[in-house]
Amino acid sequence: MKIIEVKDYEEMSKKAAEYMLKKIKSSSQLNIGLATGGTPKGVYQELIKDYSQNKTSYTHIKTFNLDEYIGLKKDDPNSYFHYMNENLFKHIGISVEQTHIPSGTNENTVAECEAYENMIKNAGGIDLQLLGIGANGHIGFNEPGTSFQSKTHVVDLADSTREANARFFDRLEDVPKQAITMGIHTIFQSKEIILLASGKAKQQAMVELLNGEVTELFPASILNNHPNTIVIADEEALRGV
Ligand code: GLP
Repeated sequence: MKIIEVKDYEEMSKKAAEYMLKKIKSSSQLNIGLATGGTPKGVYQELIKDYSQNKTSYTHIKTFNLDEYIGLKKDDPNSYFHYMNENLFKHIGISVEQTHIPSGTNENTVAECEAYENMIKNAGGIDLQLLGIGANGHIGFNEPGTSFQSKTHVVDLADSTREANARFFDRLEDVPKQAITMGIHTIFQSKEIILLASGKAKQQAMVELLNGEVTELFPASILNNHPNTIVIADEEALRGV
């Protein structure tokens, strides 16, 4: 794992966007895995800024999001479908057909998971995956204890994850209790991974990730075994490592 230490959130966002844009501009076809949450918002803003200045083409890009809440409709302001559209897609001229997010409203969740996993496979896999990290080490919505062999599946969200994400909802009770997420295996298959971390809230997770052992009790730890992962983290997040 390569660690790039940056000053702050802004520099982290710029570095990651720069890296992604270089790939986007130099590839004839690219499958990008995308994340939600507060962390990647700055990267998306940089991509939008670049698009408005340079009209970078995304016609050769397919995107696959990590996860989606179960039970939220696409137009729900807290669905990841809505998040991606508002924070990125509608600003960079990328069509709905190019973007993929698990459906949180398909009643047959098992079929939805299988279809999503197959869609990634049939597209040729993910070339570049963007990741955030939960304080408990979750990636996507893979909570501690998830098998490293897991593929796209349904998860019961940890109380700590629901509490951390409650800031986006009116009330804690409104945070869904389940989600569909790419599995650890699905994520690990990505040819290249960029993990972002910023701020004090991620300090403990960075200590575990960089100094701890590889264990299913800390899902992100598997990235230590990945051949091509870059961690871009700011000073605050790395304090203590
Ligand atoms: C959420 C998402 C993850 C994200 C993580 C950290 O639960 N499912 O994909 O990386 O939590 O979120 P944040 O970036 O807001 O700290």
